[in-house]
Amino acid sequence: MKKNLAVYSVIVVLASLCVCASVYAQEDIMSLEHDVFVDRQRPAAVFPHALHADDVGIDCLECHHVYDKSGENVWDETEESDCTACHGLEAAGKVMPAMKAFHANCQGCHTKEGKGPVTCGECHPREK
Ligand code: HEC
Ligand code: HEC
Ligand code: HEC
Ligand code: HEC
Repeated sequence: MKKNLAVYSVIVVLASLCVCASVYAQEDIMSLEHDVFVDRQRPAAVFPHALHADDVGIDCLECHHVYDKSGENVWDETEESDCTACHGLEAAGKVMPAMKAFHANCQGCHTKEGKGPVTCGECHPREK
């Protein structure tokens, strides 16, 4: 009986560790589902922000930008971070439409680096 209890509590501890680990991992994964896409064709894209910004250490300015008059990227954390604040459903002058902007940024780097997903289903996984 004593032994059974001990085994049981080890399992409980292990189980709660697993729950914490997966909750932590999921907190980092942003689901990019923007209102500009009124008739969605694909499930929201998954984007692990901290993996990119912290673990892989990609410069914020690789993805975030606010261009000043001379075309310099002056983005800092106080500036707009929502891509669709500027990239709408349709192109506006030289500002490319949102879907193209995301694909150019995300897929573009993955293809260039030979790392990260490049197929539709990896970024737009079906809901489980
Ligand atoms: C690989 C691309 C990429 C990198 C690198 C990156 N970001 Fe982001 N970031 C995004 C995307 C995409 C979003 C979501 C924007 C949207 O939903 O339109 C976002 C959202 C954000 C947001 C708002 C959402 C939130 O609540 O977190 C902040 C703040 C932010 N990023 C800060 C940073 C900082 C600071 C860095 C550098 C340390 C950084 N980002 C690096 C792509 C990136
Ligand atoms: C404050 C407005 C603004 C925000 C916010 C913004 N963009 Fe842009 N983006 C622009 C403008 C303006 C251009 C065109 C720059 C040019 O051609 O001179 C551009 C260009 C681009 C390009 C073409 C290549 C380049 O870098 O010039 C990509 C790709 C892109 N944006 C992706 C994104 C992504 C992804 C986000 C969110 C993480 C984002 N943009 C947020 C305004 C914005
Ligand atoms: C500047 C380069 C760069 C940009 C921009 C970028 N990524 Fe990535 N991404 C990477 C690299 C490198 C990896 C591989 C990281 C690893 O596993 O070591 C990766 C991995 C991933 C993964 C797989 C994560 C995993 O668990 O293995 C997803 C999903 C992903 N990226 C989504 C996106 C999305 C969505 C965007 C655009 C909002 C984006 N990425 C923009 C470089 C980039
Ligand atoms: C590297 C990641 C990545 C890959 C690969 C990718 N996408 Fe996307 N896609 C995104 C992101 C990020 C968005 C904007 C966020 C969102 O889902 O709302 C987006 C938006 C879209 C949208 C607009 C929203 C909607 O559902 O109507 C469509 C359509 C789309 N993608 C189709 C595709 C197709 C088809 C493929 C394969 C040929 C593909 N994507 C591959 C990341 C990716």
